[in-house]
Amino acid sequence: MELGTAGNTSGLMLKPLILSKAQPKLPSSRMATSLQNDRLLRALLRQPVDRTPVWLMRQAGRYLPEYRATRARAGCFLALCQTPELACEVTLQPLERFPLDAAILFSDILTIPDAMGLGLSFSEGEGPRFARPLRTATDIARLGVPDPETELRYVIDAVRVIRRELAGRVPLIGFAGSPWTLATYMVEGSASKDYARIKGLLYEQPELLHQLLDVTAQAVTLYLNAQIAAGAQAVMLFDTWGGILTPRAYREFSLAYMTQIVAGLIREAEGRPVPIILFTKGGGAWLEEIANSGCDAVGVDWTTDLSDARRRIGARVALQGNLDPAALYASPERIRQQAAQVLADYGAGSGHVFNLGHGIQPGVDPERVRVLVEAIQQFSIPYHAPLSPANLR
Ligand code: CP3
Repeated sequence: MELGTAGNTSGLMLKPLILSKAQPKLPSSRMATSLQNDRLLRALLRQPVDRTPVWLMRQAGRYLPEYRATRARAGCFLALCQTPELACEVTLQPLERFPLDAAILFSDILTIPDAMGLGLSFSEGEGPRFARPLRTATDIARLGVPDPETELRYVIDAVRVIRRELAGRVPLIGFAGSPWTLATYMVEGSASKDYARIKGLLYEQPELLHQLLDVTAQAVTLYLNAQIAAGAQAVMLFDTWGGILTPRAYREFSLAYMTQIVAGLIREAEGRPVPIILFTKGGGAWLEEIANSGCDAVGVDWTTDLSDARRRIGARVALQGNLDPAALYASPERIRQQAAQVLADYGAGSGHVFNLGHGIQPGVDPERVRVLVEAIQQFSIPYHAPLSPANLR
């Protein structure tokens, strides 16, 4: 398969991505290539920046015609994830178009359950499905912790290839699903409306659910540490379904395991801290507790006001968010207005990473995304003091 051409199939003038076919292993001297844009890493650590960094959840995805072209070439979404050169190509596509401040590894949170033997597939319009969902205590007892360098090698290789091709332009974010969110898919078998099975397990056999969450937390810890060792410069835990829990159950079945993972992660690589972002969709009521997990930054969805979030936890952690993804359906003028409002809600100073409150939807016009990213670049400057040697620590 010819590499590096799919970005042009949409007829847009995109720079072709030249991917070398060398071994994905990077010599350590190359890894230390200096980072030309470290705004994201600085903001996540609440250090001064010249403007607010911006990246968008699902910035690589179906709203981009060049993504759809590469996916068609790969055959399906999973083949795209499992071919490091193609995963790299789609990771870089949004960066070729927009002045974003970070790349996020192109993969999926469900790679871990797949490596545990559940048999992942995706059907068009239906989302993920497992051929062998967890149905009995024996199914759970049989689960092993996958070795990232063998069973998830394609992901770790993708991290290495992406770092090489990024060549220090912007940092690379690695990610995984939270144990609770992964367990939800593993027990339900596919997307669910009522969460009957996983909640049945939670209320009827909490010890069994703890057993599942424990093995999953071990798997996520190893997986994220392997991503960091391969070159991920920040990592994010996606807790998409934490918000369906009661406060008590959230603490016991979701946050406790994310806290355990945070405690087990490598915190420094290549001579810099590796910031950790926790994002619980629908977790606005629990921000203080999330901030106490030991993470560096908390993702905030659009149902929480960013000024409230800052007042509550902004002295301890950075905040990432939180434009309503549906705002991208509005006119350019309204998008600019909404973007300016999010910046104003956070206010002056560092510690804010601009993002959406959840992923970009597939129906969004890429030109609206450009409007948003450029608006953040432009409007955020007055919120930061000019960088001088004195405030660059
Ligand atoms: O953000 C990025 O650009 C990086 C890539 C990324 C994907 N999935 C690619 C993807 C990330 C970070 C994820 C995380 C993920 N995957 C989550 C947590 C974040 C969230 O959205 O809440 C979840 C719950 C999943 C599981 C998953 N993967 C679902 C429910 C679906 C189907 C829904 C959909 O949008 O089609 C996927 C598929 C998926 N993962 C796609 C992409 C680009 C679409 C696949 C395609 O048809 O090409």
